[in-house]
Formats: sequence, structure tokens, C-alpha cells
Amino acid sequence: MRKIDHINIALQDKTLSTSLDEYRMEYNSIPLFGLDDVDTSTTICGYKWQYPFFINAITAGGDECNKINKDFEEVCGEMGIEFFPGSYSPALKNEADKISYPKYRSVNLGLDKNIHQIIEAIDTTNAKYLQLHMNPLQEMIMPEGDRNFETWLENLQNANEKINIPIILKETGFGTGKSVFELAIKLDKVMAVDVSGKDGTNFAKIENGRSSSPSPYLEEIGYTTAQSLEIAKNYRKNLDIIASGGIRNSLDVIKVLALGAKAAGVSRNFLEILLSSGKEGLKKEIKKWQKEIKYLMILCHAKNIDELYGRITKIKK
Ligand SMILES: Cc1cc2nc3c(=O)[nH]c(=O)nc-3n(C[C@H](O)[C@H](O)[C@H](O)COP(=O)(O)O)c2cc1C
Repeated sequence: MRKIDHINIALQDKTLSTSLDEYRMEYNSIPLFGLDDVDTSTTICGYKWQYPFFINAITAGGDECNKINKDFEEVCGEMGIEFFPGSYSPALKNEADKISYPKYRSVNLGLDKNIHQIIEAIDTTNAKYLQLHMNPLQEMIMPEGDRNFETWLENLQNANEKINIPIILKETGFGTGKSVFELAIKLDKVMAVDVSGKDGTNFAKIENGRSSSPSPYLEEIGYTTAQSLEIAKNYRKNLDIIASGGIRNSLDVIKVLALGAKAAGVSRNFLEILLSSGKEGLKKEIKKWQKEIKYLMILCHAKNIDELYGRITKIKK
């Protein structure tokens, strides 16, 4: 099954160095306040979140993937962080997947889906957010991928006109450039952009791993998470910027917040922990991030997420 292949290949590729390693957070030797004064909450699309990181879209459909989502739901419910399920696409074709898709959260679909499919997905899941993903390069490389893209913009414009929940426009690991932000600020339902930069999961690499005739040079296309966030700075007054792509630890979360994001999404690295150490292992890791984020905010003299903005320097190599 394609989804399971994707998971297996994604997990072979550990996130080692990323574009965030080129940045250093501000460090103050004399802290000005303690843990009780730190507020880690953030607001995305008008909803308040207790913590500025979350489990980002990975999977849905088929027994194994539905079980992964169930485990993520339980972990996030207990730890007070948000969980975004993966593509609703299998549920459009299969009743069992429709029933299993997580409810009252976000629903995720690709821009190839038309407005009727989008409305069906929102209605059956009672979703709070619509995550519309952009993955043109993956579609081009995948043998079973889309070959026609002429409806994508129209599908987005129709969603913007006809649905009544916020849209998060989301990349899937190749980063986000100026043209997407310029479009997003013109669409009033698009309240957030998830830049999903080229620092972690790389679907060109994954598809090359499945191919008998790989094209490794395609893996370098796109923008890193840091490059995407530098571009996003011009738009952060109009959009909630979400950072994903290679987020490894609490320090990466602090760095992307200091670069202007309001939350950080984690896919590969939390999936790996769930599959290797189970729900208890993942809860332990999330708890560690929650504690460390507070400590790092104290070191930055930032009592809240807004105060973190700009407390970071790019180091010269
Ligand atoms: C196995 C796998 C499946 C994914 N499926 C989806 C998906 O269905 N929808 C989506 O928007 N993104 C999907 N993504 C992309 C992630 O949400 C994220 O944008 C990307 O993996 C970069 O984050 P990471 O480096 O933390 O993995 C998937 C990622 C992985 C690893």
C-alpha cells in the first residue's frame, strides 16, 4: 500500500542537520522571571492552543494508518496539544475510512479535490479547520500521481468562497515561496500558511526510493524551512504562519517562533517515536518539549510567544 511505503521510506531518513542550525537564539545570563510567568499559548485561525507545537498531517485510511491516528488522538488529548490528521482522500472512496477519520479536528485534502469533495469532507468530519495541501512535485514524480493541475487554483478559490471554516494552506516538504503568500493574503478564508520547508521529509526522496529510475536531483527543489520563514516575515501581519519541515526538538520550536511562526508542526519525528516507543514514549517526549520550551523562553526573556519574535541571529559560516 502506498501510504505504508511512504511511512517506511520516510522513517529511514533521520533528520540530522537543518537550516535552523544556521541560527542562534538570544541567550540572557540573568533571567527576569520564572516558570509561572511563562505563557506558551498561541492562536491559530482564531483558536487558542495551549502549546505552540502540534502533530502535523501524516496519514489516514487503511487499518494500520487509522490505528496510528487513533494513537495520536489519544496522546494529543492527554498532552493538550493539537493533532492534524492526514489526507481525507481515502475516505472519499471508502466507507470504513470515512468512519475512522478523526472528527472535530482538521480535515486534510489536496488541491486536486473539487468543492463537492471538500464540502463532503468537512460535513462528515465536523472539522474546525480545512488543511489544503500543495504537493505538485510529489504528484509529478509518483507513478500514480496527478498529471493535470489546471483545476488547483479554481478549487482553492471555490473553497475560499463556499466554505465557512478557516483554511490552512499547507506545503508538504518543499517550502513556500512568495507567490503562495501573495495569493493567500487575497483569500479571506485562508487564515494560515504552513510553510513545510525542505529540511525534513522529502517526497522526491521518498518517491525516488520507490522508483526503478530515480531522479535524485529533484530532491533539491524548493525552499528550506528557514528560507520560507524569512519570506513569510512580509506576510505575518495578515496570516498565521505555521512552520514545519524537519522540526526535531524544543529548540527548533523556539527558533521558528523567533523567526515569526506562531506554531511548529511535527510529522516524521513524532511518528518515529510513536512507532518505536509507543504512546507512552511519545507522551514522555512531548512532556519534555513542553517543559524545555518554557525554559528556553525564560532564557530569551520572552514571557509569551509574541515576545519571542526577533530574538534570534543568523550566524555567519
Ligand atoms: C508518511 C507521511 C505522510 C504524509 N501525508 C501527508 C498528508 O496526507 N497530507 C499532508 O498535508 N501532508 C502529509 N505529509 C507531510 C507532512 O505533514 C509535513 O508537511 C512534512 O512531512 C514535513 O514535516 P516533517 O519533516 O516533520 O516530516 C506526510 C508526511 C509523511 C512523513
